[in-house]
Order: sequence, then C-alpha cells, then structure tokens
Amino acid sequence: MSTGERDTIADETVEAPVENSSTNRKQPFPQGFLDTISTGWAERPEKVPAPRAQAPFAAKRRAAVSAAFPGQRLVIPAGSLKQRSNDTDYVFRAHSAFAHLTGWASDAEPDSVLVFEPTDGGHDVTLYFRERADRTTTEFYGDATIGEFWIGPRPSLAGVAADLQIATAHLHEFRPSEGELVLDEDETLTRVVSELRLIKDEFEIAEMRRAVEITANGFDDIIRELPAAIAHARGERVVEGVFHRRAREDGNGEGYDTIAASGPHACYLHWTRNDGVVAPGDLILVDAGVEADSLYTADITRTLPVSGTFTDVQRRVYETVREAADAAFAAARVGVRFRDVHAAAMAVIAERTAEWGLLPVTAEEALDADAGGQHRRYMVHGTSHHLGIDVHDCAQARREMYYDGILAPGMVFTIEPGLYFQIDDLTVPAELRGIGVRIEDDILMTEDGPVNLSADIPRTADEVEAWMARLRG
Ligand code: GLY
Ligand code: MN
Ligand code: MN
Repeated sequence: MSTGERDTIADETVEAPVENSSTNRKQPFPQGFLDTISTGWAERPEKVPAPRAQAPFAAKRRAAVSAAFPGQRLVIPAGSLKQRSNDTDYVFRAHSAFAHLTGWASDAEPDSVLVFEPTDGGHDVTLYFRERADRTTTEFYGDATIGEFWIGPRPSLAGVAADLQIATAHLHEFRPSEGELVLDEDETLTRVVSELRLIKDEFEIAEMRRAVEITANGFDDIIRELPAAIAHARGERVVEGVFHRRAREDGNGEGYDTIAASGPHACYLHWTRNDGVVAPGDLILVDAGVEADSLYTADITRTLPVSGTFTDVQRRVYETVREAADAAFAAARVGVRFRDVHAAAMAVIAERTAEWGLLPVTAEEALDADAGGQHRRYMVHGTSHHLGIDVHDCAQARREMYYDGILAPGMVFTIEPGLYFQIDDLTVPAELRGIGVRIEDDILMTEDGPVNLSADIPRTADEVEAWMARLRG
C-alpha cells in the first residue's frame, strides 16, 4: 500500500462508505468482531535486547556529523514505502545514510527520522519512529500496511533504544522546525554524510567480507546450475534466480539487480532484462552482489565459459581484461590518486586493442587526455567506484574526495575493467564480435597495500576452468 490513504478495514464500518477499490471487495466488520478483537491477548513482556554490534560504530559516526554542524538542527529521514502498483509497495529499504548513522538496517521502520537537536555541547540525538500500536487500536488489526496483525511484530520504543543505543520517541512527536537541514535537501549535509562513508570502520569491513563470502557461494551455485540454465529457454533468468535464492537465504537480498548476460548480451553493460538463452560455447557475464542484513553489499563480476572451457579467442580477451585488472591492483597504493587506478587499467586496454589493430591511432595517441580515447569504445565505463552500504557508495562526495581523491586505508572500492565487442561493431574482426568480458573484484585499501576481498573467487582463465570442472563434476 502506498503512503497516504491507508487501507484500513475498520474504516469500512463508517456509514455509507464510498465504493472504491478498498471498499468494493471487503466485508465490513460486524459489531461482535469489533467488541471482542481487542481482548483476549496475552501480555507481551517488554523485551529489551542487548546493544547490537554496530551500535558503538554508529555512535562515532553520529559524533562526527554532530561536530561538523555545531548549532544546527539536522534531520535524517529513513524514507517511506514506495508504491509499486495499486495497493502493493516495493520492499522497504532505509536510506543508506540513515542506516549508516543508526545501525538500523534491513529491520528499520519506514518513515523513521533521526534528529540531531543542537545543544550547548553538541547535539541531542533522537530517533523518531512509529512504535507498534496497542491492540486496542484499529491499526493493530485493520491496517494492512503497518498493523501487526498483517505484517507481524513491530518494535517498541524501549526495544529500539536498547538495541541501537539511541534515545527514541514516537513519530507523532516529531515536529519539523524552521532552518533545520534535511538530508537530500541540504547539499552540505548530504555531502558530509556521503564523504563520511569513504573510510570504512572495522564493523563495515567485516560486513563487506561477509557479503563477499555469501556472493562467492552464490557464484558456486550458479556454476552448479548452469546445465539447468542451458536447458531453459530463458537461461539467464535461471542464473538470476539461483543467485537470488542465495542472496535471500543468507543475506537481505541483492545489492543491485543481477546482470546475467550471456553471449552478446555481455556487451550491454547493465543488461538486467536477463531473458536470453545461455548457449554452450558462449561466455556468460554475471555481475551480482549479495547485500547483507546490515545493508553492506558486494559487487562481483565473473565471466564464465558456458561449456567450461574458453576458446582461444575468448581466452585472449579474458586474459587481457585480467591483465588490466592486475595492473589496476598493482597501482592501488595508499597516497595514490583514485583515478590513477583507472589509468593503469586503461593503459593495458589501449595497448592491447592497438596491438590487435582495432584502433585508428597508436596506444600512446589513444591515451592522450584531450585528443585520445579511441580505445574507450571497447570499455566506456570506469574501472572503480567506492563500495559499501550503497553499491555506488559515497556518490555525493566531492570530486576532489572521490575521483581526484587520494587512496587511504579503510577505503573499499571495486576494480572492474572489461572489454566489450558489440555484435555489430564493424571496427573489430568477426571473431571478436559478441564477446563481452568483465572481471570485478572488491578491494580493501590498507597501509600494506590493497587486499582483494574477493580473492577466493577464481579469477584467471585457468582457475575459472578448474573451478567449473570441480563444481560440475
Ligand atoms: N554492478 C554495477 C557495477 O559494477 O557498478
Ligand atoms: Mn561495480
Ligand atoms: Mn558490478
């Protein structure tokens, strides 16, 4: 159900209801129901949980935000349910900044608001949310969107306060105030909370490792199910579905729509239609990431030979992409600019595509910042983006902190070069047309160099073939 008018069955007991989509198909509650529904329920003892592991980390993040905005009232909304169609909504997903600053993630309540109220010494922080309704209310049994009779137990103010270690209040008590800064409306606040996520803390890094681990299991599942995908007219959907099962069983779901792109579809960078066949002899590019319950997500791509072994030309393209990824990995060092990682990958792409005779210029000319770029036809996307609670994390950070920023310990980002030769690209020989390869890994920057969080997922052409042979018997 969308926000706004609620689907309150009890409303139908008002006199002469207007016939509409919520009244035309339901029976009004008779008086006997209304007289008895609120009684006969056992007491619910107040369960006060121990603080969740993320609570002290979220407290530090709030302290940083407080320090950046002395004397200002700050409002960080979780967001609301969004209508999908008629009276069905999309699954609620809290705003990433809200989840980051509260630690309230897949279990967050829609419409909640985190408020920083300025005080002499900083801010008093209160989390306003719609506490569960008492069983004497119509909300309890009559509201299909939020009533506990419909959607299951909802948390209490005391429970959430103990869990998150934040003062709580009922949403009814929240009042907007003049001059306050609201996330996504105020540019500075939006930027500051985005930049705050550039460096991950210990909790976040552990969650990202977990997200990668579940994702690795999802890729194993896909390989095991490839015969079923080959047998199905929409094999790409089989691949998508297999990964979805793992993501929902072991995590909150996918961090973004899975790309299951077989054959020439691999050349469409964000192919999520996934309605094609998975044909023996082709490559299938799978870009998929599990979002953990904390909302931190992995973002991994592997390109697999459907039949288990690469052809010579597929292997040549694949290993060139790997060479570009390895060059990017080697360039990723503390103190280096973020964009130099991309430059290292692109140098390999330019050199190899020039060597294969695909470019009308030399590699050196293609790499010229102003007049070049001819090689970008075959890899139009960037090599890296920050990764975290959003798949494209820290997206509101300033350019000087992001693309032109300096790599620092605690940053997590992808390295994901690719080569894509569209099926109708006349600039490449026929043998290359329809081949698309991307290899994407998730990298943690440390003082000692980059750590590939997804190193356990086979990467080289030989490793990929051995992986597939092992899982497919
Ligand atoms: N999965 C989207 C990306 O790799 O950026
Ligand atoms: Mn990515
Ligand atoms: Mn990806």
